[in-house]
Amino acid sequence: MASDAERNGSSTENVVTVFGGTGFLGQRIVSGLLDKKVDVRAVSRHPNRNQPHPSSHVKMPQRIEADILNRSSIAAAVAGSRAVVNAVSLYVERAGQSFERVHVEAAADLAAASREAGVEKFIQISGIGSDARSSSAYISARGRGEEAVKTAFPQAAIVRPAVMIGPGDSFLAAVIRLLRLLPVYPLFGSGDVRLQPVYVGDVAEAVARLVSRQSDTDANTFEFAGQRVYAYRDLVREIAGLLRMRTTLMPVPYSIWMLLATAAEWLPGAPLTRNQVELMQNDNILSGNLPGLKDLGIEPYGVDPVVRMIEEGH
Ligand SMILES: NC(=O)c1ccc[n+]([C@@H]2O[C@H](COP(=O)([O-])OP(=O)(O)OC[C@H]3O[C@@H](n4cnc5c(N)ncnc54)[C@H](OP(=O)(O)O)[C@@H]3O)[C@@H](O)[C@H]2O)c1
Repeated sequence: MASDAERNGSSTENVVTVFGGTGFLGQRIVSGLLDKKVDVRAVSRHPNRNQPHPSSHVKMPQRIEADILNRSSIAAAVAGSRAVVNAVSLYVERAGQSFERVHVEAAADLAAASREAGVEKFIQISGIGSDARSSSAYISARGRGEEAVKTAFPQAAIVRPAVMIGPGDSFLAAVIRLLRLLPVYPLFGSGDVRLQPVYVGDVAEAVARLVSRQSDTDANTFEFAGQRVYAYRDLVREIAGLLRMRTTLMPVPYSIWMLLATAAEWLPGAPLTRNQVELMQNDNILSGNLPGLKDLGIEPYGVDPVVRMIEEGH
């Protein structure tokens, strides 16, 4: 029986393997690469979820089932790749799946397997504010993960997106849901924290440019954020305005959010997680010291068109 690769006419010479290629960001990286006529392997534990729409691309990706926690399955998945992207997430710790295991050890294993396989380019998706010295288990694991990846694959590129928005996101969708549901909007703390939400499609395009040799930058750490910095409360007001809704904002202490998140992590789809609450206690904006979207020729979307995209169901 013909494999996906044979049916697609793929060769392994220009294959980019996207771990987490069915996720919110990963599926868009896969689409962006297909648009650039790159052969793609989309790897995840459930590879048939969230595939790009067949009519929108000449080729479809190879769908590979592999678990980043399983060293032999990652070696097989990266074999013959020119580039590898790690877009695997873990937002809630579960038995056998800690932030340390996924964001540090497994990221380093994937980088090491890629180096051993002769991969030219490795991209680790991390997050703005990653900091190995943070007291937050999540933020610290993201920082140590970056360091472990660079040890295993010294030329690896680190990509730190701000909070990403777009159809299917968890951030704007939650704001819109709460605005519709409640007459009074509960803010994280006093709503002072500063955010710079970035359209997920812009981040995907930037990653696709980095791996498809469309960029000649030799920088190896990038921060990707949107057009504008908002205080969280102003962002909620702006979204309410775009939806033509009136709302009253109510500050809610972070300690209460932590309690709510501890309970919500056990609900299907974990609608709120403790690491989200921790992330909302720190500004999530460009440091200004690292290259970003504009250095890759991308003018970032504002929040308004993304809210419209979500409303129109794109
Ligand atoms: N979303 C944001 O706002 C945001 C902001 C900054 C940074 N980031 C970072 O961006 C990256 C992608 O995030 P996302 O929001 O796109 O995540 P996501 O939607 O949760 O997707 C995660 C992907 O990883 C796969 N995956 C999870 N565990 C795996 C495992 N053990 N082995 C192999 N594949 C696995 C998932 O598929 P299966 O479950 O089928 O395996 C899925 O394809 C993450 O590093 C995240 O921390 C996200």
